[in-house]
Amino acid sequence: ATAGEENLGAPPADMDRRNILNALTLGAVGLPILQAAYFYLGFFVPPSKKGGAGAGVPALDRVGNQVTVKQWLASHNAGDRELVQGIKGDAYYLVVNDEKTNVKDFGINAVCTHLGCVVPWNAAQNRFICPCHGSQYDANGKVVRGPAPLSLALAHVEADDKGGIVFKEWKKSEEDFRTGETPWWS
Ligand code: FES
Repeated sequence: ATAGEENLGAPPADMDRRNILNALTLGAVGLPILQAAYFYLGFFVPPSKKGGAGAGVPALDRVGNQVTVKQWLASHNAGDRELVQGIKGDAYYLVVNDEKTNVKDFGINAVCTHLGCVVPWNAAQNRFICPCHGSQYDANGKVVRGPAPLSLALAHVEADDKGGIVFKEWKKSEEDFRTGETPWWS
């Protein structure tokens, strides 16, 4: 081949290369944009609609792994109340039942209804006692002493098909079993 023939062949090859580069660049830029759009849209989709009907929000441990019922029972005692991350990233208490055969079917939101401090469980007093202004809640999170105006919020606790713990929203149509009232947090 002569130099002239090589030159004739060069433009399409260059263009191909450029097109490939363009495609790669677009891909690299386009993916984060799509991901951002996905997460952005995610804010407007109710959690129950994500991942199929009634999938729930996984209960996560400190390092972000989903907690399973089996693991939890193996590492906790009857009556333990310990925190995991739940709906909307809030801290929720999982409660081990008295027989230590399961976790209770409700989780207790740890956010104090007074000014939002995370309320620790005090096993000796059998109460949740807020360190900020002294509000107290009974073992199910029902307010028993102010200044907190309301009981701690609840979420349903279920196991998914792999035994992973998930939270589901407490619906407005359901009652707060501690008070018999409409749940204020729904
Ligand atoms: Fe809990 Fe004020 S924030 S008592």
